[in-house]
Amino acid sequence: MTAIGTDLARRDGTVKVTGTATYAYEAPVERPAYAHPVQATIARGRIRDIEIEDAETLDGVLTVLTPDNAERLADTDDKELAVLQSDEVAFRGQLVGVVVAETSEVAREAAGLVRVTYDEAEHDAELATERGSYVPEQLNAGYPTESAQGDVDAAMASAETTIERTYTTAMYHNNPLEPHTTTALWDGDSLTLWDSTQGVHPLRSTIAPIFGLDEERVRVICPYVGGGFGSKGTAHANVTLATLAARAVPGRPVRLALTRQQMFSLAGYRTPTIQRMRLAADADGRLSAIAIDVVEQTSRIKEYAEQTGTPTRIMYAAENRSVTHRLVPLDVPVPSWMRAPGDCPGMFGPEVAMDELAERLGVDPIELRIRNEPSVDPDTGKPFSSRNLVACLLAGADRFDWADRDLRPGVRRSGDWLVGTGVAASTYPVHRMPASTAVIRREAGRYVVEIGAADLGTGTWTTLPQIAADALDVPVSDVEVRIGDTRYPMASVAGGSSGMTTWGSAVVEAARAFRDKFGQDPADGDEADGSVGPADEDHAMHAFGAQFVEAHVHADTGELRVPRLLGVFAAGRIINPRTARSQFIGGMTMGLSMALHEHSVLDPRTGHVVNHDLAEYHVSVNADVTDVEATWIDEHDPYVNAMGSKGIGEIGIVGTAAAVSNAVWHATGVRVRDLPITLDKVL
Ligand code: MOS
Repeated sequence: MTAIGTDLARRDGTVKVTGTATYAYEAPVERPAYAHPVQATIARGRIRDIEIEDAETLDGVLTVLTPDNAERLADTDDKELAVLQSDEVAFRGQLVGVVVAETSEVAREAAGLVRVTYDEAEHDAELATERGSYVPEQLNAGYPTESAQGDVDAAMASAETTIERTYTTAMYHNNPLEPHTTTALWDGDSLTLWDSTQGVHPLRSTIAPIFGLDEERVRVICPYVGGGFGSKGTAHANVTLATLAARAVPGRPVRLALTRQQMFSLAGYRTPTIQRMRLAADADGRLSAIAIDVVEQTSRIKEYAEQTGTPTRIMYAAENRSVTHRLVPLDVPVPSWMRAPGDCPGMFGPEVAMDELAERLGVDPIELRIRNEPSVDPDTGKPFSSRNLVACLLAGADRFDWADRDLRPGVRRSGDWLVGTGVAASTYPVHRMPASTAVIRREAGRYVVEIGAADLGTGTWTTLPQIAADALDVPVSDVEVRIGDTRYPMASVAGGSSGMTTWGSAVVEAARAFRDKFGQDPADGDEADGSVGPADEDHAMHAFGAQFVEAHVHADTGELRVPRLLGVFAAGRIINPRTARSQFIGGMTMGLSMALHEHSVLDPRTGHVVNHDLAEYHVSVNADVTDVEATWIDEHDPYVNAMGSKGIGEIGIVGTAAAVSNAVWHATGVRVRDLPITLDKVL
């Protein structure tokens, strides 16, 4: 009997689509008050004066907080989260106040009546390559900031063919359907937060010390999340603000929902990247060197380094290799996680460069990649736990009728449309977080699994029961899983596609402990727990994939259409094909969106993202994606975890934009190296 691999409907599907799932903003509390932020309108400087009288005297306003009167926080080390603690403004949109009122409408109206004057300072919000001198101090996700093997310059000088090009990706904002929302309730020195988060325990660990609380005094609840994509993976300033606001109106819980526009300065974003790629190859396309130098921005108040160069370390064999990251600290909002941090932007430059090399050599781009397939991880020298990039490329080629493809660009037409196809590789590491625990209890003849895990639309409600059922050797209908509450055992963040590997491993350990203790016929109340163990250190562990794209470009207007996307993935055992497919095609659609539409336009004169709503920040919609197909190959990886699974939440977005650019080149003969691919760039 195996529940893993079964196509089961989402357990949370009905409550979500019928509107009965309770989200953070809808937490069942008595007499809620409502908060609305006041944001800075300058990019850098000091608050000279804040006049709150008009706001305070508006009917229904309970209080107005500013840096002048807000409570001092116990821990202000994290400058993103230390809201209303200083009169300094470090980016446009930073929080400078909050109104708490009887209704959200009154709070919003009153926020508009708060008058702030500033002593403005010179600001700097412009990213440029020559300015990238700052070496990241924090090693995000544990990756070193640079790596080098051999001598890339020498290999470039002596190679038969070289490619040296610069590629750029834009600034992007996560736009989950549910905005960042919090309901905060103080009861004496105890705090309850209903917060739309990708991790109740990590959120608690972040917020408790800021308010000088022991973690036991804080409960975080979040059974349902309306999307996050990483923007809810770490606490942002809205959580501190809601908590401060609730403290200022004793006895009243406070609800705060960021508006869509506020999310563009307060909820993180993907930094724009500038990627200088160098490839050196012999006449057969065998690489002797691969190098990427990345420049990107961070904020002045908090460092975040997108690990854009990391996938280049592991993708292709080449004796000479180099990866560097440099940051430009600017007077801009704090960047943060967005689906496949690092790997997503970091596979754009390299995978277009590989296509450019294939073009130069007259070699099929799939064949070029196969010729450069490494036998071990070129970065660490470790064997891969499993690596099936070639199988993905070949399976996709078969499905996409790649064999009939003419290598020449600009030769296929369908009426007024130029037609091309493109391919790019995809990858994402297997991450396992160091700590998580699950408990299994016999309750009323069923098995109840409790763990503070999150389901941000990813499928956790459905897939954890499948893992538990197999580990206990019972039908999946006998298992109930409870997640999204710090009352349950500690769970790591739903980030880095690590959820199933980490929490699933804890569940398997708990099931083993349970069976060891109580056998096959347990009594009600019997209970055991288990925790995730250490990761395998002897293998390089990554998922791989191949993205195929058909692009149509109108010969006269340059209008772009992508009628077909195909992704083939090798991501270990697939726990639930339905939720997995949804993750893959969701990621691919987001990648298409990145390729053709998404672009946060930051005006360096004001430090403001001018297109800060969904009217002007365009995302792919149903009409843009006619045929998106995700499939996968059977992969059984014994090293990754007890389930044999790899993370699948992020790999779908990786490589898609490169495949689109490569297909657009094949259609038109025009290389677009700067995202997004808009019609002005192909004409
Ligand atoms: Mo994902 S960006 O690691 O939540």
